[in-house]
Amino acid sequence: MNRPARVALVLAVVAASAAATWHFVSFPSASTWNEEELRLIASLSLDALPDLPPDPSNARGDDPAAAQLGHSLYFDTRLSANGAVACATCHRPELMFTDGLTLAIGAGVGNRHTPSLVGLSHSPWFYWDGRKDSQWAQALAPLEAKHEHAITRSDLARLISSDADYRSAYIDTFGPLPTFDIPAAASPTGDAAERARWSALTAQQRSDIDTLFSNLGKALAAYQRKLMPGAARFDNYAAALAASGSAERDQGDALSAEERRGLQLFIDKGMCVTCHNGPLFTNHEFHNTGVLANPGELPPMARYDGVRSAREDPFNCLGEFSDADPDQCIELRFARDTNDLVGAHKTPTLRNVALTAPYMHGGQISDLAAVMRHYNEAPTSMLSHNEAKPLNLRPPELRALEAFMHTLTAPLATDPRWLRSPE
Ligand code: HEC
Ligand code: HEC
Repeated sequence: MNRPARVALVLAVVAASAAATWHFVSFPSASTWNEEELRLIASLSLDALPDLPPDPSNARGDDPAAAQLGHSLYFDTRLSANGAVACATCHRPELMFTDGLTLAIGAGVGNRHTPSLVGLSHSPWFYWDGRKDSQWAQALAPLEAKHEHAITRSDLARLISSDADYRSAYIDTFGPLPTFDIPAAASPTGDAAERARWSALTAQQRSDIDTLFSNLGKALAAYQRKLMPGAARFDNYAAALAASGSAERDQGDALSAEERRGLQLFIDKGMCVTCHNGPLFTNHEFHNTGVLANPGELPPMARYDGVRSAREDPFNCLGEFSDADPDQCIELRFARDTNDLVGAHKTPTLRNVALTAPYMHGGQISDLAAVMRHYNEAPTSMLSHNEAKPLNLRPPELRALEAFMHTLTAPLATDPRWLRSPE
């Protein structure tokens, strides 16, 4: 599906699920699902996930050689100033590409919690505030961030040019390397000395390094496009329900009665499906859900600033390193930037959520039971307003919702060789 079609589909799902939530008052649970519930359950099933559409801004996104190179880069700690940080340091395969920490730790401690990368390639925006509009442009930021890899783009270019394996893999995939003598530690985003060394380069040299740099991002994105969720118990239940042709709730043994009750709360009274919808349990949109800022931090502007950063990013879809035609950059050109995006963060996937504690953009909430209490109470936002409303669920209902979260856990639908270092 191309991007406009996907946008239309997402809008249709959102509209349908928003409409659906008003109709439901059917609680305590009946023994059958109504038509709307059946439709919503089918829409959440992994069977409804379309094939990953190509990313027009990354011509190498589905190139196996690029994915191979990205795989090596992803696990390589030489891509850091202290030789100890790789993407895999924080996005650990065994934790569904998260790190189990409240705030991420690379060369320093950051101010955000590490999100999962599974299924993420379906998202049009990256980061909690969506300040990047492609997965390849996103990958460039942690490489140079001082609290993450803390390397410079010129040192990366030197590494790729000097390492025999990287050299040949790069040339095979992307073409010639820069031919001039690349200086150490030069970057437009670094400290004063690094910026001065960057300014001393000619415009052509800067562009050559930036081309190489963006190609490393494109290889890392090609690798990440392999990371897809596998069918979980919930999907088995949805499949059994669809195959039975009946609306009977009791279907096989994929879900217990409590988990089915949690599913009902998720799509009806809990209204979770207004934001966590579609087979990845996210609408890929930004919402304010009243999560408090971490102690000592100002409440973030979040998506309000994020969309502005994405527009100014030299590596965005409309920039010179993108492979897209401007008319393919629909998301960026038509991105909303209204005031209601103050404090709004990206809706995360809930697939495998039981394995990715702690939760929220700053890791503010330590476990799923506490997340359910958060939604039940819907605290007032520190900035702007909380879109989620108090639910007034009773303790057994909160436990059922939490139990439902555990039915979304499953091994990835990804060849295991991608889940470990290539060496
Ligand atoms: C020091 C830990 C750390 C390292 C190293 C790191 N990341 Fe991240 N990553 C994070 C954190 C924290 C965020 C969320 C930051 C934010 O939203 O402001 C994130 C966000 C992301 C996202 C966006 C997720 C989303 O939901 O939109 C992607 C994609 C990603 N990282 C890929 C990578 C890649 C590729 C690398 C290696 C080049 C990498 N990361 C290195 C911690 C890390
Ligand atoms: C208005 C949209 C919206 C609604 C409704 C909503 N969520 Fe969320 N959910 C989000 C957003 C946005 C975040 C991330 C917020 C943040 O980090 O500040 C989130 C985060 C989460 C997380 C943490 C995931 C992670 O990886 O950190 C869980 C679990 C969750 N929601 C479950 C639910 C459940 C269960 C319901 C229904 C009771 C629900 N959500 C209703 C938008 C929503």
